[in-house]
Amino acid sequence: ADSMHSKLLAVYEKAEYFYHHLLVNSKAGEEAYNYLLNRGMTKESIETFKIGFSPPQRQALKLYLDNEGLNDPEVLKKSGLFSDRDDDTFVDRFTNRILFPIADARGKTVAFSGRAFLEAEDNHRMAKYMNSPETELFNKRRILFNYDKARASIRRDGEVILFEGFMDVISAWQAGVKNGIASMGTSLTEEQIHVLDKVTDHVVIAYDGDDAGLEATKRATDFINRETHFTIDIASFPENLDPDDFIQSRGKEAFVEFLSHGRDTLMSFLLKYHRKGINLKNESERLKYIEVVLRELARVSSAVERELYLNQLQEEFDLSVDALKEQMHSFIVEQQ
Ligand code: UTP
Ligand code: MN
Ligand code: MN
Ligand code: MN
Ligand code: MN
Repeated sequence: ADSMHSKLLAVYEKAEYFYHHLLVNSKAGEEAYNYLLNRGMTKESIETFKIGFSPPQRQALKLYLDNEGLNDPEVLKKSGLFSDRDDDTFVDRFTNRILFPIADARGKTVAFSGRAFLEAEDNHRMAKYMNSPETELFNKRRILFNYDKARASIRRDGEVILFEGFMDVISAWQAGVKNGIASMGTSLTEEQIHVLDKVTDHVVIAYDGDDAGLEATKRATDFINRETHFTIDIASFPENLDPDDFIQSRGKEAFVEFLSHGRDTLMSFLLKYHRKGINLKNESERLKYIEVVLRELARVSSAVERELYLNQLQEEFDLSVDALKEQMHSFIVEQQ
């Protein structure tokens, strides 16, 4: 099993080299390369992240690996780099995509995610991103994009920035924010939280500023809260922008500024979240809002923070602190 492991790593190393070379040095990769440059990705980032291009030919990788003497069918099958087929022909899984290598914690590439980029007529039938399947090397529940490169900065800065996607991590990197990682679209898992727990106790959620990102942020806060004692801050990007869009439209400085000074504490995020779409002039909606906020407060461990928000509620809704406290405590008891 151990030697299978190293054989798979060797295949990935070759594949990464092949795809990267095609992106940077071949005519075939030119369109993909220009696409990335037009989106603001620098040549340096393309190098650092070893971005690649999988050509349209159905067996380009297969033939390359053959030439390199990597042709053990068992290894190729387990690599996830080829489509699953019953016969023993190997067809490249990734064709016509820009490839983002995904590394394990030691920096070894163990998977790819491929982005479709052509305005091809039948493009709408393709998923925007396609990922390697789960393999012996690639445990989706564990791996965080860019964790290997970000780890030292996460330690140094005392916090990790959690993004949705590859482009967000890379754009942030270009803006000097080196402690960014991505859970790659899926919701955060317990295993990923465990990985982070070893290096930090502070996470900044910087998901997309759209409805999906907002809901994903709420789910992530609930989940992190349940599993850990992390401090959580939230950077809520405006106007449906994701962090990468924000950087492209407003610049690096504005991004860094927003990330450090525009973030909300968990509680103020939750207040805004629960307030959305609610008419506080309506009595029953108002009561519901107060109740849900008290439920959130019941989960806050800092007495000072609880007091702060209780006072705020008391002032805003002209209620007695005693009544608010009593209700909050009933929720604390419920949770135990
Ligand atoms: P987004 O749809 O926000 O994509 O998905 P993005 O990161 O902004 O990508 P660009 O800017 O359009 O290139 C966020 C992340 O979810 C995963 C990817 O990891 C993506 O980066 N995803 C998204 C998938 O795995 N498959 C998909 O079809 C779409
Ligand atoms: Mn800390
Ligand atoms: Mn998104
Ligand atoms: Mn996005
Ligand atoms: Mn994007």
